[in-house]
Amino acid sequence: MNTRSNDEKFRTLTKPDELLALHEKASSSVYRQSIHIQPVSGLLNDPNGFIYFNDTWHLFYQWCPWGAFHGLKHWYHVTSEDLITWKNEGLCIRPDTYFDNKGVFSGTALPYNDQVYLYYTGIHREGNRKPKPYTCMARLSENGRARKFSGPLFGPSPDYTENQRDPKIIYDARTRKYYILLGAQTKDKKGCIIFYESDNQNSGWKFRGQLKVPGFEDFGYMWECPSIERISGHDVLIFCPQGVHLEGHGEGKNHSGYIIGTMDYGTLTFTPDGAFHELDFGFDSYAAQCVSNLNDPSKTILMSWMGLPDGKYPTDKEGWSGCLTLPRELTIRHRRLIQRPVAGLRKLRKDTISPGFGMLPSVAEINISIYPKDFDMQLFSKADGTGGFDIRYNSSTREITIDRSKMDNRFDKDFGEVRTRILDNELTQLVIYIDHSSIEIFVNNGDAVFTSRLFPTEAERYYQLSECTSISIWEMSPAVTDDFII
Ligand code: FRU
Repeated sequence: MNTRSNDEKFRTLTKPDELLALHEKASSSVYRQSIHIQPVSGLLNDPNGFIYFNDTWHLFYQWCPWGAFHGLKHWYHVTSEDLITWKNEGLCIRPDTYFDNKGVFSGTALPYNDQVYLYYTGIHREGNRKPKPYTCMARLSENGRARKFSGPLFGPSPDYTENQRDPKIIYDARTRKYYILLGAQTKDKKGCIIFYESDNQNSGWKFRGQLKVPGFEDFGYMWECPSIERISGHDVLIFCPQGVHLEGHGEGKNHSGYIIGTMDYGTLTFTPDGAFHELDFGFDSYAAQCVSNLNDPSKTILMSWMGLPDGKYPTDKEGWSGCLTLPRELTIRHRRLIQRPVAGLRKLRKDTISPGFGMLPSVAEINISIYPKDFDMQLFSKADGTGGFDIRYNSSTREITIDRSKMDNRFDKDFGEVRTRILDNELTQLVIYIDHSSIEIFVNNGDAVFTSRLFPTEAERYYQLSECTSISIWEMSPAVTDDFII
């Protein structure tokens, strides 16, 4: 139970030294990650403002510096030359104006005239009144900090509840207009997306209307973090519907998924070409963000928060929580989004490890080729073979299942501890990345992904598996540093 007062949770960060002790405590945790972006202290949630600009990848994350709770949100900045090794750059947007006094919420980035512009939701609140969301803009300056524009681009629309947030900025070359999409909620509590439009990226914004998504008029009570991406010649609507019941998620109400279809900016209609699909079949994945701009437009890269808005994690008591997923390259095959870990991750491989010992390194890539038949594997089991995280495949039903119920550290049990996906084709390949407190499983060359946090105890470090064609294990070099940079 978190007993901090709101004053403590909603403090703006002014003196970095205040965080040193929290940072030292977090960085001494055995669950500190080695190849995943994680917070210097406190809580990390959504990735924001993902962009490739002047040969550098910039990424920001939602950050509450004070502890593992959703207090006052700031944007923290990290950069990379290769998407693999990341450097802490420090605090980028601070909630220090009237329009964002209760938080600098999620948003995206746009390159324009050799500058990077950041669009975010500022949350304003007076006392116990309802919060008011403002769509705000800032410019990323040379020193990695943001220079805010003096006022917001626009305030909340009176025709929706106060839940209007997470601007995604899009330039549509056909209509030659800029659009901002916001995740929103209608007055009768239905999730939706609202659109603003302008000829300029920094002024003249007008409310355009609500996105029509035929068949999805009653799909959860709120949609967060919306985005429309062009992938392999298709439009893809990516968003987080809240309040939809999904098989295997128990009482979990926060989901992350996508619909493939056609976007018409003229009529503001997204016509689905199929069902809503989960983006990830694991336990911990939310608020996906794709790069808004790339030198090679045929490529889209996605990263997500490896966590859930109402998730509780064993590191909460150490004063930190959350990390981001590894970057994945997106394509579409057979009307499904395919996610593959970016190729550059290979350069983190150290020597291969002999599978004979059955002991897991704490950070590793594991590649397995499987005959099309039943398969069974336990990772993080104990020396006597008990416990662990299960991966099972039943070839007669083509069901692949993960199960974390036998781990010593169990958490978020109400959201289900077993997840299953029926594969389109027989299981032939698994590529698995494990870090100190996570696992990402890529099935059949990106056909399905299972992303989960896991917190193995010291005794849980063995693995065993049924017969397969081949297995290779590489220990991996670290890719993130834990520098205290604010
Ligand atoms: C999603 C979300 C966003 C919001 C942000 C606040 O996790 O709730 O809708 O902008 O987190 O941190």
